[in-house]
Amino acid sequence: MPLNIDKGLAGTVAADTALSFIDGAKGVLEYAGYDIDSLARNSTFEESTWLLWNGRLPTAAELTAFTASLQACSDLDPRLIELIRGIPKTTAPMDALRTSVSALGHFDPEADDNSPEANRRKALRLVARTPALIAVFDRLRKGKPLVAPDRSLSVAGNFLWMLTGARPTAAMEKALDVCLVLHADHGLNASTFAARVTIATQSDLYSAATTAVGTLKGPLHGGANQEVMEMLLEIGDLSKVDGYIKEKLARKERIMGFGHRVYKAYDPRATYLKTFAKQVASDTGNLALYEMSRRIEEIVLAQPNLIEKGIFPNVDFYSATTYYSLGLDLDLFTCVFAASRMSGWAGHCIEQLAANKLIRPHADYTGPHGLRYAPIGERAVSATSSTIPSARQAMSVAAGSNASSM
Ligand code: CMC
Repeated sequence: MPLNIDKGLAGTVAADTALSFIDGAKGVLEYAGYDIDSLARNSTFEESTWLLWNGRLPTAAELTAFTASLQACSDLDPRLIELIRGIPKTTAPMDALRTSVSALGHFDPEADDNSPEANRRKALRLVARTPALIAVFDRLRKGKPLVAPDRSLSVAGNFLWMLTGARPTAAMEKALDVCLVLHADHGLNASTFAARVTIATQSDLYSAATTAVGTLKGPLHGGANQEVMEMLLEIGDLSKVDGYIKEKLARKERIMGFGHRVYKAYDPRATYLKTFAKQVASDTGNLALYEMSRRIEEIVLAQPNLIEKGIFPNVDFYSATTYYSLGLDLDLFTCVFAASRMSGWAGHCIEQLAANKLIRPHADYTGPHGLRYAPIGERAVSATSSTIPSARQAMSVAAGSNASSM
């Protein structure tokens, strides 16, 4: 079989999906055929999740039943709370979430049942419980009493309630709900791919979700929203934006919240969030941060070399100011992304198992061949054998290489 090398898999189709569609050149995102803009304006996180899992919009009765099922399973097992209590308070919330999502599986008797019915029930539990896991760790690390879930609230409302212990206003609940809708699914992004790789081995949904959380954490993926906010706070004032960004660009550094592997046009999630973030920032006295973001965007979009490369704001750019305006700590931003994307991860895993094939690409072997095995007493350390990168560099000049397979 001829092998193509495609580092980063940018030109590789590795799965079929009916969950979401992206046209990166035109800046289009649809969930099961519905444009993201109309979903952000009209739908809710519960309804969008139902849409992703069922391929059509629910009836009123279906949505009511689904919402009630989510509300009914938002409680955490007390033994799991004890386990979270044991996580050092200094742990980053995304790391704590990775551990606690994994631990959810220990308290689910269906954890290893990969039937579609059991996986749908587990998907529901994962989506309902992820906000609770985040809120429990956050309150424990701050030494605050835990807040029991309120089953009368939406996922977004209950999330804010469990985090803050205060009733969210309708505007705050709506703001978080919009962010949850916008982040719920996004084709074969890195964390979704990682989840599909894990479930494709016929592992289990909790293992796949754990893989996905660990993958989302990176600053090139979900971790960018926190870095955007850190940048805004570091700049501190609108008058300092020009100097800061221009110097960063001169040093050829990346501006976080810009650029995307698939979108070479404006990220359609950012289009809606931009307007929305302005309103939320204005309502909460954070308009200055929004104005700084707008100025950063103007500067970046005025760089011909970046426009040529298709560098536009992505979803993380304006979600950062929205989360900040909601009073969320910076290190919780990526956790909110995870709470939303759990819906897409679970949907993709169920879809993967319905027509499963082990995902196992090749690697291009760049090391030596045919070496003689020397007894340990005869070995001398050579300059090229100490580290993997130096071995790779040494072999980049070696004649011939082939793809390894197991
Ligand atoms: N600022 C300045 N230049 C950039 C940026 C940026 N944010 N992003 C990419 N470039 C340049 C990059 O330097 C490279 O230039 P050259 O060809 O001269 O070396 C070119 O654009 C292509 O970059 P790449 O890294 O090869 O492209 P990619 O498709 O692998 O990267 C990306 C996509 C998202 C990792 C990248 O755009 C990036 O690092 N952005 C900043 C981090 C960020 O905001 N991530 C969130 C992504 S959206 C949410 C999500 O899906 O997780």
